[in-house]
Amino acid sequence: MTRPYVVAIDGPAASGKGTLAKRVAEAFEFAYLDTGSLYRAVGVATLRTGGDPAHPQDALHSALSFDLNLVNDPAIRSRAAGEAASQVAAHPGVRDALLAFQRDFSRVPPGGAPGAVLDGRDIGTVVCPNAHVKLFVTASSEARAHRRWLELRRQGEAVEEAQVLQDIRNRDARDAGRASAPMKIADDALLLDTTELSIEEAVSSAIALVANALRLQPK
Ligand code: DC
Repeated sequence: MTRPYVVAIDGPAASGKGTLAKRVAEAFEFAYLDTGSLYRAVGVATLRTGGDPAHPQDALHSALSFDLNLVNDPAIRSRAAGEAASQVAAHPGVRDALLAFQRDFSRVPPGGAPGAVLDGRDIGTVVCPNAHVKLFVTASSEARAHRRWLELRRQGEAVEEAQVLQDIRNRDARDAGRASAPMKIADDALLLDTTELSIEEAVSSAIALVANALRLQPK
């Protein structure tokens, strides 16, 4: 049996990696896993049970009693959930608890799909270091803050754009500065800077990079 294709897409908060990963998965009929949603679910579960996401024991307890249904809850998309996710993600025990699920998804993509696309911070470096293709998606912090601010506004969350920029800078610093599986560019990753690109331009670039690397024709 041939090994399923694995596409790793990493990048900082609000870089657009989620949209690109979803569209790449559709283009090649691969399964898609947003690994940030797992950390967001653990963060929200910790808050809901009255725990502190910065506290390793509280966060680990939520990770070990993980409820997969939470990943579909719109509550995990809030600003507070993003912050809690970044805090729980800094604990090595939490990362270990979520690792097997992510690796299993890449090895045996659901629905018998011929491949899997995973997006996150450490997919190309830790979760799937043997991925067939790795993209690292970036954009300036200002461009990312503007996109995230528009998204939060659409969801009805009233917040200043300057505050969102500050959140993004804090989150980048925590995600890249933690000791356990920090966000970093894999040596063999292809870089995609979306600062000056429209969504459709970024999607076309990502699909072209993956098609070229896998020698596959997109749908
Ligand atoms: O991609 P996102 O913004 O939904 O991720 C939320 C947080 O989860 C992010 O700030 C750091 C953490 N995360 C991680 O540490 N590793 C991943 N593979 C994905 C997300």
